[in-house]
Amino acid sequence: MKELVIPQLFVSIWLLVNGFVSCQRPAVVNLGAIFTFDSVIGKAAKPAMEAAVSDINNDIRILNGTKLNLLMVDVNCSVFLGSVGAFQLVEEEVVAIIGPQSSGIAHMISTIANGLQVPLISYAATDPTLSALQFPFFIRTTQSDSYQMAAMADLVDFFRWREVIAIVVDDEYGRNGIGALGEELNKKRAKISYKLFLSNQLDESEVMDKLNKSKLLGPRVYVVHVNPDPRLRIFTVARKLQMMTDNYTWLATDWLSATLDSFPPTKKASLGFLQGVVGLRQHTPESSQKRAFMSRWKGMQRKGSASSELNTYGLQAYDTVWIVAYAIERFLDEHKTITFSFNSKLVDMKTSGLQIEKLKVFTGGNDLLDIILQTNFTGLSGQVQFNQDQNVFSGGYDVINIDQVSIRTVGYWSNVSGLSLSPQDARKGEQNSYSRVDQRLQNITWPGGKTERPRGWIIAPDERPLRIGVPNRASFVEFVTEVHGSHRIEGYCIDVFLKARELIPYDVPYMFEPFGDGQSNPRYDDLVHMVAADVFDAAVGDIAILTNRTKMVDFSQPYASTGLVIVAPIRNSKSSAWVFLQPFTVEMWCAIAASFVMIAVVIWILEHRVNDEFRGPPKKQLVTMLM
Ligand SMILES: *[C@@H]1O[C@H](CO)[C@@H](O)[C@H](O)[C@H]1NC(C)=O
Ligand SMILES: *[C@@H]1O[C@H](CO)[C@@H](O)[C@H](O)[C@H]1NC(C)=O
Ligand SMILES: *[C@@H]1O[C@H](CO)[C@@H](O)[C@H](O)[C@H]1NC(C)=O
Ligand SMILES: *[C@@H]1O[C@H](CO)[C@@H](O)[C@H](O)[C@H]1NC(C)=O
Ligand SMILES: *[C@@H]1O[C@H](CO)[C@@H](O)[C@H](O)[C@H]1NC(C)=O
Ligand SMILES: *[C@@H]1O[C@H](CO)[C@@H](O)[C@H](O)[C@H]1NC(C)=O
Ligand SMILES: *[C@@H]1O[C@H](CO)[C@@H](O)[C@H](O)[C@H]1NC(C)=O
Ligand SMILES: *[C@@H]1O[C@H](CO)[C@@H](O)[C@H](O)[C@H]1NC(C)=O
Repeated sequence: MKELVIPQLFVSIWLLVNGFVSCQRPAVVNLGAIFTFDSVIGKAAKPAMEAAVSDINNDIRILNGTKLNLLMVDVNCSVFLGSVGAFQLVEEEVVAIIGPQSSGIAHMISTIANGLQVPLISYAATDPTLSALQFPFFIRTTQSDSYQMAAMADLVDFFRWREVIAIVVDDEYGRNGIGALGEELNKKRAKISYKLFLSNQLDESEVMDKLNKSKLLGPRVYVVHVNPDPRLRIFTVARKLQMMTDNYTWLATDWLSATLDSFPPTKKASLGFLQGVVGLRQHTPESSQKRAFMSRWKGMQRKGSASSELNTYGLQAYDTVWIVAYAIERFLDEHKTITFSFNSKLVDMKTSGLQIEKLKVFTGGNDLLDIILQTNFTGLSGQVQFNQDQNVFSGGYDVINIDQVSIRTVGYWSNVSGLSLSPQDARKGEQNSYSRVDQRLQNITWPGGKTERPRGWIIAPDERPLRIGVPNRASFVEFVTEVHGSHRIEGYCIDVFLKARELIPYDVPYMFEPFGDGQSNPRYDDLVHMVAADVFDAAVGDIAILTNRTKMVDFSQPYASTGLVIVAPIRNSKSSAWVFLQPFTVEMWCAIAASFVMIAVVIWILEHRVNDEFRGPPKKQLVTMLM
């Protein structure tokens, strides 16, 4: 027993000393941020995060006595610089890293964050494959593209389009984004028919080449999922190719709204060529907090600390800093201090020269991660809570339509109710219980200024025309035959076919192929067999509808004899002995009787002088007459 007391004593003394030392909260807590300063998102996020840090440092209710220090690294959209930046920040002893904004870098840094156990909180990487299972230290304060693509698929389904062309950048963001779109469209029995992959530089001649080629494809609905591009190159090229006109439909994911929102009002006036584009924007509920921040942003622009307008990503970046600050506050409440130590994995590596084993890493990463995931916070972008996948609960999307130079919100999408005219709270209500009939949107102005729904496809010019077999008859040539000597097909059946085709509101290319030698009538059973065997796409002619033929091919309504018979139930089933009188009315029966007597009288008048049969007593004469 005696041996045991001493270590216990030692432990309690150690705890005392340690507790005494760590009562002191750290004077400074470092927080890292990785993003591209000179980008649509970065230009909004940088001033927003700086504003958040200064708000937190001036607020005595949060991190009282501790200064939050934000260390920002510009990675200029490079995955390589991103990874180096992550190590740089860890070396500066950060407790968490905010960012990155691009999904490609997020994949890379998440791996590093996992290895070093530093929470990574991104307000802009929307790639749906950044999953919590693979990257437990990755948290997202923006909506995953899987929600956005569900919204996009609902939009495509709402307008009853079946095929779309996707224009995407060839990186993780683009590929995984349209992967999700393909899945969501599948659920609606629609599909992506073609994918146009563009390089990240969006080289204009490449875009022009690919868009020009896409004109020869059938679908005319384009879904554009690229990185925010202040030069809007895809649309300027589309305008040059006369593709911003009716006959074409353009849908854009939220990169477009983020880009347009960050434009100064003077630039917005020159956006007439975007007329008719429909896009999505992450929904942020109206609040006094948000309005106050917007007017504060105007002041920051005047002072020169903000160079662009505010967009949704800016709001989310502001909230992200607050979320982390609240988490650090709670972490300090529980653990009193923040400690850094050598990472055992790196120490074991013994890298000569790199000195990577000297890296000191935050020891409380796991606990801080748990605290962040329990966040329940109402910020500028609405209420923030994290779900199982470590994403914020989806607040839904606004559907925007660019009409002349204004950006109109024409509806809202949420996971709960689909498309609707008023914003719905996605946290309430049954999930996925909405049906297509309750979907509502305001009227949309499409490219070219039309308001009716675009058809969304054409028959591609290089599409093979329909092969229509026609019997080359030798007799009854009025029905259908090939005019002798010319290759013209004529006849009543052809006239009916051409009239019916005129009723179709679009062009259907076709060609007639005569069947038979013209010397004798062809065997119609063979013709029907050839339609079934895909030698012909259809056949036009005086083809009788027989039971065994209907088992192989579909027939149109018969037009020579309709063959339609209506079977109706008998209403009056009462019968009587006098039912035989029913075909004629009483007047009719009287008229028949009268004419019978009349004829008898006439015959009697003509016959009784010459015919012996009409002689005798009047009684006999009367009987003969009536017989
Ligand atoms: C903040 O800290 C100061 C001293 O460090 C203290 O006087 C003050 O009461 C604290 N305020 C709050 C709200 O905790
Ligand atoms: C960012 O990278 C591009 C090329 O990818 C380069 O032209 C530009 O100068 C870089 N910007 C900065 C600030 O390093
Ligand atoms: C677009 O393609 C067509 C051929 O399909 C070609 O004639 C035309 O020159 C191309 N236009 C541009 C701007 O490349
Ligand atoms: C749209 O398509 C129709 C039919 O294909 C064509 O007649 C019309 O000229 C096209 N409109 C434009 C603006 O290209
Ligand atoms: C989150 O906070 C709101 C009020 O701000 C509260 O109504 C809600 O119950 C909280 N949710 C959880 C899970 O704590
Ligand atoms: C809709 O939200 C619910 C709960 O928030 C979630 O379980 C479901 O997977 C979501 N649906 C889609 C299509 O993301
Ligand atoms: C929307 O379009 C319908 C039919 O095209 C029309 O009746 C209705 O007035 C339009 N609504 C608005 C608000 O323009
Ligand atoms: C349909 O049945 C008739 C007689 O039963 C036969 O002569 C003919 O070949 C059949 N047609 C087809 C397409 O099988």
